[in-house]
Amino acid sequence: MQHVRTRSGLLNGDGGIRETGTVRPFLHVLADTSDKLSGVCSILEEKFTVAGERLDADSRLSQTPAIIVIRAELRDLDNIAAIKKRAGKLAKARKRIFLLEHTSHVCISQAYALGATLVLPSTVGRTRLLAALTDPADESSAASGDAPQPDNAVEAAATAVASMFTAVTLGQPLDVNGTKEAGRQIADRIGQHGLTEWLMTVRRHHEGTYQHCLLVTGITIDFGLSLGVGRADLERLYSAAMFHDIGKARIPLPILDKPGRLDAAERTLIETHPAAGYEFLKDHDGISPEILDAVRHHHEYLDGSGYPDALCGDSIGDIVRILTISDIFAALIEHRHYKPTMPRAEAYNVLCGMTGKLEKALVHSFKQVALTR
Ligand SMILES: [Fe+2]
Ligand SMILES: [Fe+2]
Repeated sequence: MQHVRTRSGLLNGDGGIRETGTVRPFLHVLADTSDKLSGVCSILEEKFTVAGERLDADSRLSQTPAIIVIRAELRDLDNIAAIKKRAGKLAKARKRIFLLEHTSHVCISQAYALGATLVLPSTVGRTRLLAALTDPADESSAASGDAPQPDNAVEAAATAVASMFTAVTLGQPLDVNGTKEAGRQIADRIGQHGLTEWLMTVRRHHEGTYQHCLLVTGITIDFGLSLGVGRADLERLYSAAMFHDIGKARIPLPILDKPGRLDAAERTLIETHPAAGYEFLKDHDGISPEILDAVRHHHEYLDGSGYPDALCGDSIGDIVRILTISDIFAALIEHRHYKPTMPRAEAYNVLCGMTGKLEKALVHSFKQVALTR
């Protein structure tokens, strides 16, 4: 069955529709049931020319849209096969937004493996969905002629992070080399295009914990580059950053990505993640003692007020100190749809205010990463 909905109007050659002189962007919606299809279409028709199709129909929509929105149950293998059948068309779309029924690590990982550029829960509100589709950052970069870089490195890195979380969830062995390789690609990308471009791209395409891991890795790499570390140390840094929050795979996503404050029980649960990550990684080949140390201790402070081991001063290594500063900064500047993004200068001031907890000289060196790079 094919289900096509478009607002009345004249489709033009570039995928838009002309209505009294304005061009409405054209997008596709794919869904696994008619109810879901009409639900998503009715929201999007406010701002777009929408063509919808059920996943179990033969793919007949001929135009290639700039945006494809897919709402489907990814635990259903038929749906996965139907999405894979449309891989060619998907690859040509600039945005591929997946609305998931179950936002488990496994389903999110599957969505990225199928080419998602953004994954949202199917319960996402109308405002948030429309905002994701009409991201002003895209328009300003297009208007300025400063075209965003191809996002292959971002998607490869997001897939690596999602697969890492999935491996923990399912108790499968981790692809250590694949994860490190994704870190190396981020280092290449930042070496070529700088930190700011990385931060903007990641925040535009990713949400929550995955976004956080990608931001921390980019910031840690750029901090390392600014300090002039050698190749081997840079590899230690990006590997530690990629793996640092792997223990969060043991914590349900609704707690990890909860808007607003956590209660005491939730906070206690979250604070188990450094030791959980360490326990998971310690039996894997290819994870050096420095990486294990960084994973376990990235929430320790020099004054002994951190967790899980309340380490002090000299017992906190250099890689850990660099990672901790990058981690806090990333958490402050991450993009959350429910609150404004903190400006980088303001986030740097928060770090400067953490007297006694972070190494003062390192925070001083971090200034150019935070503000100018
Ligand atoms: Fe953490
Ligand atoms: Fe973190």
